[in-house]
Amino acid sequence: MCGIVAYVGPKDAAPILLEGLQRLEYRGYDSAGVVVSNKGLKMRKVKGRVADLAAAVPARFKGTLGIGHTRWATHGAPSDVNAHPHLSADERIAVVHNGIIENADELRAKLEADGAVFLSETDSEVLSHLIARTVEEADSLEEAVRGALKRVVGTYGIAVIDAQRPGEVVVARNGSPIVLGIGEKEMFAASDVAALVRYTRQVVHLEDGELAVLRADGFHTFASDARETAKEPLTVDWDAGHYDTGGYEHYLLKEISEQPETVARTLRGRLDDRFHIAHLGGLNMDARETRSFRRVKIIGCGSAYYSGQIGAQLIEELARIPADAEPASEFRYRSPVVEPDTLYVAISQSGETYDTLAAVQELKRKGGRVLGIVNTVGSAIAREVDGGLYLHAGPEVSVASTKAFTSTAVAFALLALHLGRVRDLSPADGRRVCEGLRALPGQIKEILALEPQIKELAGKYADSPSMMFVGRVRGYPVAREGAQKLKEISYVHAEAYPASELKHGPLALIGPEMPTVAIVPDDELLDKNLTTLGEIRARGGRVLMVGHRTADPKLADDCLVVPRNEIELDPILLSIPLQLFAYHAAVALGRDVDKPRNLAKSVTVE
Ligand code: AGP
Repeated sequence: MCGIVAYVGPKDAAPILLEGLQRLEYRGYDSAGVVVSNKGLKMRKVKGRVADLAAAVPARFKGTLGIGHTRWATHGAPSDVNAHPHLSADERIAVVHNGIIENADELRAKLEADGAVFLSETDSEVLSHLIARTVEEADSLEEAVRGALKRVVGTYGIAVIDAQRPGEVVVARNGSPIVLGIGEKEMFAASDVAALVRYTRQVVHLEDGELAVLRADGFHTFASDARETAKEPLTVDWDAGHYDTGGYEHYLLKEISEQPETVARTLRGRLDDRFHIAHLGGLNMDARETRSFRRVKIIGCGSAYYSGQIGAQLIEELARIPADAEPASEFRYRSPVVEPDTLYVAISQSGETYDTLAAVQELKRKGGRVLGIVNTVGSAIAREVDGGLYLHAGPEVSVASTKAFTSTAVAFALLALHLGRVRDLSPADGRRVCEGLRALPGQIKEILALEPQIKELAGKYADSPSMMFVGRVRGYPVAREGAQKLKEISYVHAEAYPASELKHGPLALIGPEMPTVAIVPDDELLDKNLTTLGEIRARGGRVLMVGHRTADPKLADDCLVVPRNEIELDPILLSIPLQLFAYHAAVALGRDVDKPRNLAKSVTVE
């Protein structure tokens, strides 16, 4: 999704902006641009990569104040002209914008009737024209920006500069993230801390409706009614090294390989061996309140939703509380009934996914108690919820989620243990779960050692036009996530079904052209799963079985055997070979593994 970087200080802005934009590349984009101020505005923008933009920026592109942008097209095709920044007609004002201006057509028509000439097809260009209309009479740039934003309906994160005020940048947020970075006699702003951590780890997150004025010597923030707000800087514990590939060919492989440590970090300091409980102080709930919930509803999008399905199963099994997961993108639109005795849990790696954030806001409006399971400290969802757990998985750069997925499932195991131990989960079962959780990092290492075998299997199946993924109960979300990983990075069509549903329809698809990945743990459903494999093989379907034992060759062509944990925790381990399978299939097919087509890392628009 689109990215913003801004700088004001004593240094040359262009290299800082270009470096920041490069750090935002992982979020997905199709064009990029920068503008610096130095006796007027100098701008370059191109369709293509940040490297193309850097090549288009001349050596004499000097200026100590500037803004930059990576665009992910929504209104108007990817092109040089539609790329941001957008200038006012007199080239005094430059604007970069993330988000969607819903009344752009109406505003554009009014501005055109008033003589404005638009150069691009974007919704964003209305902003530069609107601000330019009032900046002359306004006392300050922020006043002109505030006035323009009052006319706008929609979401935005913006950065604005004025050629006639060469010492300041104005940024504002409504539904699209903006973070300020505090340097030594310099200030930064960006839509993602990734663009800032090379320069500073002191950051301030803007809230929706807030606006900030940045000058080299500091910043001021204001609420929508122009009242000044007080902000406490946060220290980010991620540094630039977290955003390197660390010698791996792709971020995705690095992030898959990091899982022994990331899972250990999610667990660190949270397991209590004396009472076999989980310490989750961040939930902000005492034991009485924790006992009072009669249902758990989990919301998230994409892979976050699938990890929520694993979470729902864990909560039902360990805490015996009815729990289910639903896509946040659907939940928010169906006017959900919000119950006082339901605990809502929102999941998000980025903490900025708009659909999830909007669902949380809707829940809060209706008085729901919402916890967050979030990776990015200080993100919008983390700030909105009543309490929760951070994953501590470190930044996830590759578009496809891997380490955040497993850490979320681990966080749910902790939550389920916590909810269970204030109810009926026995100390013996609590101990069993604690020991299982402690064993995970070592077992993940064992799975990662299977990479050569998984790579060979991926090569064998990668040329299939389509693949089926099946699993039962605990295995079903694993199958869904396996199919999601394969389709998003390899572009191989993949379907996921509960194994029990196969004969109710999708069995018609099975044949030599449609291999099946079957999730078959050694649990109480083993025999039923093996029967399903027999049904697939009887129709000429090839089977790759992922589980805890090898199967009769009559039932499976190939078997991937992973270590066993407690049956409730096995889904976490079973997901990992499927990540490697998708990764190697994508590499074999020559795909852009870390930045798959049409996708963005965090979806900050509706
Ligand atoms: C995962 O591989 C996907 N790229 C995507 O489904 C992602 O999980 C989803 O967009 C939610 O993102 P979030 O966790 O940052 O909210």
